[in-house]
Parts: sequence; C-alpha cells; structure tokens
Amino acid sequence: MKKTWKLKPSVLKKLKVAGIVIAVFLVVFSYINSEKNSLKKLGYSNQAISSIVQKWQIGAVKEIGENKTVNAAFESKDYVQDNLQVYKKVTYQKQKDLIKNINKLIKKGYKANEISMILAHGNNEDVSAFAKRKKVKYLEQYFSIPYAKLKNYDRYVAYYDKEREDAETTVLHVNMDFDQEEYTNPIKIDTFSEDVLVNKHRMLTEKFVPKQLKEVPSEYLKNKNDEIMVHQSVLSAFKRMMQEALKDGKHILINSGYRSYQDQLDTMELYREAYGQNYVDNYVAKAGFSEHQTGMSIDVASQDVSIFVESEEYGWMMDHAYEYGFILRYPKSKEEITGYKCEAWHYRYVGIKAAKYIHDHNITYDEYYMMFLEKNS
Ligand code: DAL
Ligand code: ZN
Repeated sequence: MKKTWKLKPSVLKKLKVAGIVIAVFLVVFSYINSEKNSLKKLGYSNQAISSIVQKWQIGAVKEIGENKTVNAAFESKDYVQDNLQVYKKVTYQKQKDLIKNINKLIKKGYKANEISMILAHGNNEDVSAFAKRKKVKYLEQYFSIPYAKLKNYDRYVAYYDKEREDAETTVLHVNMDFDQEEYTNPIKIDTFSEDVLVNKHRMLTEKFVPKQLKEVPSEYLKNKNDEIMVHQSVLSAFKRMMQEALKDGKHILINSGYRSYQDQLDTMELYREAYGQNYVDNYVAKAGFSEHQTGMSIDVASQDVSIFVESEEYGWMMDHAYEYGFILRYPKSKEEITGYKCEAWHYRYVGIKAAKYIHDHNITYDEYYMMFLEKNS
C-alpha cells in the first residue's frame, strides 16, 4: 500500500505559528511603510522618520502635520520627548544647535512664542549665549521690534536706564552704536556693496575701493577741469535727475564724488588749514569715515549761484531728489543722528525705493539701514 505523506501534528502546529508570525509581521511592516510614506508626504526627512518610528511617535507627529521644527527635533540627538508639544509651536530657524537651545530655553521658563522670538533675533552663536543666561525681564518689549538684536539686550536695558527713550528708539540707537564713543572700535568694512553704510561708527578700510566707478563727463561738473568718478548707478541716476531739473529751469552740477582714503586725508588737511579744526570736526569726515569713499555720494552745486542753499536748485533737490534715488544725507533736523552739521549739498544715492521711504518717513539712511538692511548677525 502506498504511504500518504503526512506532517506530524507537532510540525504542523509550528508551521501554523510561523505562518501567523509572518502574516503579523507583513501587516505591521506594510502599516509602518504606509505611515512612513505619509510622514514623507508631510515633509519629514528619512532620518527624522526613522527616529519617529523608533520612538513610537507616528500618531503624534501625524497629528502635528507638516512642521520643520518637529522634523529638526527628530533629526537631533537632543530630542526630548516632554518638549514635543513646545517644538511644534516654535518657528523654525536654520541653526546648528536649534533643538539643544530650545530645550535650554524651555528649562529657563520661556514659552514657545518667546522662544520663537529669541531664535529670530540672532544667529546660532547669539542664541546659544542667550540660552545660558537667566530668563530676561524685557524680552517682548525689545524683541517684538523686528530689527532688535539678541546680542544687544544688555545694551538696550542700559541705554534705556540712562536715556529713558521708548523701546523702538532705544533699539535703533543702540544698533547704531549711540552708546559707544564716536570713532572708537568702529566696524571695519572692506568689501563694496551699493547699499554700504558709513558713519562715525562704521569705517572703510584703506584698501576699500568701490566697484564700477565711472568718470563724470565734464558737462555735469561744476568745475570743468575736475576729474571726478562716481559709481555707475550714481552717474546714470544723476543724468536723469539733471535733465529733469533742466526742464524746470534748474541747473544742477557735481562738485565732488568718489574720494579715496588718501584723498580724504588730503581734503581734511586742506580744510583744516583753510577753516580750522572746528570746521573739520563738524563737516569733514576722517579718512575711512567718509561716504565719499563709497563712490555712492556726490556734492552738488548750482551752475549760477555759488552758495548752494541760496539757489533754486537747492529747493528743487529737496523736493525731487528722492524721485531719482538720492537723499540728503546730513539734514538739519538729524544732526544728532548723523553726527554732522547739515550739508545742503551732500547727496547719497540709495535707489528710488529706499529714497522714497526715507523721504516719506523723514528718517536718515543710518536708521533705514538698521531697520531694513543690516543682517541680524
Ligand atoms: N562732508 C562729509 C561728511 C565727508 O567729508 O564725507
Ligand atoms: Zn559730501
């Protein structure tokens, strides 16, 4: 008789168990895979997803949804489970120690919105230093101002104690280094950009030479024999402005433009001999501290009237220069801010958008720069 092939019951049982284990494994595997895919669709990285799965936080993260800070938290070795609900409310910043610093700030007692504020006002280094200190008192007061800098916090408090200005003025003034002596420890600038800011706290190095300097044609010069260079944007804006002014019967010319570091030294010497030290202190910048070294400034003159403020061209410039991107750089009402006595003839090219804002809001370029152009680091 032929023997039928039959498994022993004990083997059969083992096979059944193995089958169930495999089936469960497959179900779990495909579940995890589909969850991983949905996390991926929410923008989580592979690294974050592995950590989310490992920490059994799939459900929690899916509920949070797309969130760059949470993604960074799961990517980080500093992840703290208890802080997940705070991470999700903190605005992401691309900073190396983001999660480590958020953890520290939570420990100091800051809320998510305060942490977002702190992170937005400094770079990784600034935030790391700030996270080490005791919880500060006037966080919102200063850091609700977009251009406030984390690293200046103590200076804001000290300036306020002394000057009793409002928070916005305090932040602006400290950012402009009004709490420091003029000419001491200036920021040194050696690379050109069209929007460069120069004042008594920000100097150009001797080797700073602007790019794209162009010779001003003699028809635009007050003294036809002068050789004056300016940045090409200045020249083209000046040409347009001059032609429009001519249509109104005003004849505006250029008296000075780019001056090298050495030229400024010579200028200073010349004026000192002619008018004395007091005049030089009020009207002539020290070498390195002159905006003329940027190539973005011009001194203008009227063709017919030698004292510019007495000319019709002066009034025309006051009314129209901003339409061509020029601003009166040292106005009468702003001597405290610019550090110079009013110079009716000294115009700076900043482009039409900035010039219009500065004109409409009656502010200086120093303030505009701090509000909109300075990098927060
Ligand atoms: N007169 C301006 C301040 C300069 O010398 O640059
Ligand atoms: Zn000038």
